[in-house]
Amino acid sequence: MNNEESTEVLSLIDMAKIASENAYSPYSNIKVGAAVQCKNGKIFTGCNVENGSYGGTICAERVAISKAVSENEREFTVIAIYVQSNKLFPPCGICRQFMAEFSKDMTIFYGNEKEIKISNIDTLLPDSFVL
Ligand code: THU
Repeated sequence: MNNEESTEVLSLIDMAKIASENAYSPYSNIKVGAAVQCKNGKIFTGCNVENGSYGGTICAERVAISKAVSENEREFTVIAIYVQSNKLFPPCGICRQFMAEFSKDMTIFYGNEKEIKISNIDTLLPDSFVL
């Protein structure tokens, strides 16, 4: 990764961190933010939104991607996910499937205040289901 690319990644992670401030998570108290970058450079952010009917909860990644798709964007290059926790959260299974639906080659950064990991769909969801 060159300097320009790492600056871009850091700002995407910052955007995910800022988005995590809007998390609605009264049940888990876990605040997650995501920022997804489209092939054309546009960025959409999201946070987790929980629900008293727990199954209605939606993760930050799917909020960000759904915002992008609803604006007619379907091709993504990078997603950054940030959790306000000491524990590192790799994306959940539903979010992995959701990412795979649109861009199998997107780079996935996930992290917290202490560390940032880089991954991709092939690693997180090998041999993924495709309809
Ligand atoms: N969560 C996310 O936002 N993304 C993930 O990939 C894993 C989990 C949220 C959902 C819920 O509000 C909280 O974290 C605890 O599961």
